[in-house]
Amino acid sequence: MKVTVGLADRSYDVVLANGARHDLAALINERAPRATTAALVTSQGLSEQDWFDLQSGLVQHVVTVPDGEAGKSWESLGALLEQLADLELSRDDIVVGVGGGAVTDLAGFAAAVYLRGIALVNVPTTLVGQVDAAIGGKTAVNLDAGKNLAGAFHQPLGVLCDFETLATLPERERLGGLGEVAKCWLLEGGFAAELAAVSLHDLIVMSVSLKASIVAADEREGGRRALLNYGHTLAHALEKVALARSADELRHGEAVAVGLAFAARLALALGRVDATEVARHDEVLDALGLRRALPARCPTTSILDAMAHDKKAHHDLTFVLAGAEGFEVVRGVEPRVVADVLESFRGEQ
Ligand code: GLY
Repeated sequence: MKVTVGLADRSYDVVLANGARHDLAALINERAPRATTAALVTSQGLSEQDWFDLQSGLVQHVVTVPDGEAGKSWESLGALLEQLADLELSRDDIVVGVGGGAVTDLAGFAAAVYLRGIALVNVPTTLVGQVDAAIGGKTAVNLDAGKNLAGAFHQPLGVLCDFETLATLPERERLGGLGEVAKCWLLEGGFAAELAAVSLHDLIVMSVSLKASIVAADEREGGRRALLNYGHTLAHALEKVALARSADELRHGEAVAVGLAFAARLALALGRVDATEVARHDEVLDALGLRRALPARCPTTSILDAMAHDKKAHHDLTFVLAGAEGFEVVRGVEPRVVADVLESFRGEQ
């Protein structure tokens, strides 16, 4: 199964299959025929997995980076760039990001800036990586002031989503990925009852197809791509509050699930949808086994403060919300309304 991200001469395929990782050499041969060396950027833990048998067909080096959000730092980026230089990668050579969203974000940013940009292939090995992070060209590291605040758009030459790599995924990572899947299912107008007939692989293909079509229409997030941030205004605020305490407290996808349930309630409070839309959201989240309760110790004042200081916000409270015309970006939502809906949402639990 292939989904094409249509970007004129920078178009590329996302291959979705058991064993897709074995297409790596053929992909590089076709898309980067002058490459002689590949840096496979991954984490130590992933490099020890049985499935880590990737063959680029080139002189290849495995370069390990720290795992998880903590690894998406300026320091890790600098160390990675120094390693690419030590390996004498040239402008014709290639970086292959192998891992979850944190690894492919870091590897992609390094590929974007090393020698002012060299070729990149992504092999996402987590659900969140396969349905979101590895596709669409966003790369980044975190700054003290917030997540993903330094980065670049750098599209890969191809993405290989190998379902076999998901077999070893811890349950919490799988559920986290389902938060992004739920986002896509809801954006596509899907209902919970339909989920019974759909496999996880079908859901991955659905999510990738939606993302590919949106990125093809709006690569730089001038408009429609912002819809992919559905559920993320609250999610980013919750992550900021929770992650200030502990790196492991809340996964991105877990926060997105809560953000989706909240966004439906906010749309209802603003008179944009009726209660059936809230029920559709709750039923889809429940069917996917996702928790939609606000996490503990996230007071409304802290959430609003985090939203107000979100460096990527447009200096007012902006949400993607459902409405009569479908989903759209709604700016300037009154903080008092957000606070009231948060309080009544908390009261439901
Ligand atoms: N993760 C949202 C986007 O790639 O635009």
